[in-house]
Amino acid sequence: MSKNVQVVVDRLLSLRGRMTKQSKIKQINNLSNIFFILLNYTIMNTIIDTLQRRYATKKFDPNKKLQQSDIDTLLEVMRLSPSSFGLQPWRFIHVSDPAIREQLKANSRGQPQVTDASDLLIIATKTNVQEDEIDEYLQSIIDKGGKKKILKD
Ligand SMILES: Cc1cc2nc3c(=O)[nH]c(=O)nc-3n(C[C@H](O)[C@H](O)[C@H](O)COP(=O)(O)O)c2cc1C
Repeated sequence: MSKNVQVVVDRLLSLRGRMTKQSKIKQINNLSNIFFILLNYTIMNTIIDTLQRRYATKKFDPNKKLQQSDIDTLLEVMRLSPSSFGLQPWRFIHVSDPAIREQLKANSRGQPQVTDASDLLIIATKTNVQEDEIDEYLQSIIDKGGKKKILKD
């Protein structure tokens, strides 16, 4: 927790009975707003910090394996990624067959990462979304109780 967030938390915890209920609620609301601004600021700094440290790995130790929980987290991040109209015109393919990875390597200018990395995830994008797929998607939202307005030309 950053120092600023700690200050706000301490202030929130120190609100004592001498105040009226209404002014207490007002104080808590004000401090909660500051808390969330500082929290967002902290999260943004963490993202920028992570981006500054990231790099595209080119060489992998073929003996090292990611834990399944890490793969699951990665797939969940991909699954929850935003897309235009929420159509998600993609498929994520987790290639586990070594023979297929060899074939893919041959079609990736022989890049060793394709076979040496712990796992291979392919992102396949749909380049031509058809009208019936859009209808199907909107219907699935309605079926789940969504109230999306469908604007027609
Ligand atoms: C569209 C795109 C395609 C890329 N293709 C490959 C690739 O086929 N093989 C690879 O090792 N890295 C690939 N990269 C990663 C880049 O080589 C890498 O991002 C770039 O060298 C900059 O290095 P950095 O990401 O470590 O800052 C690709 C990156 C992008 C954005």
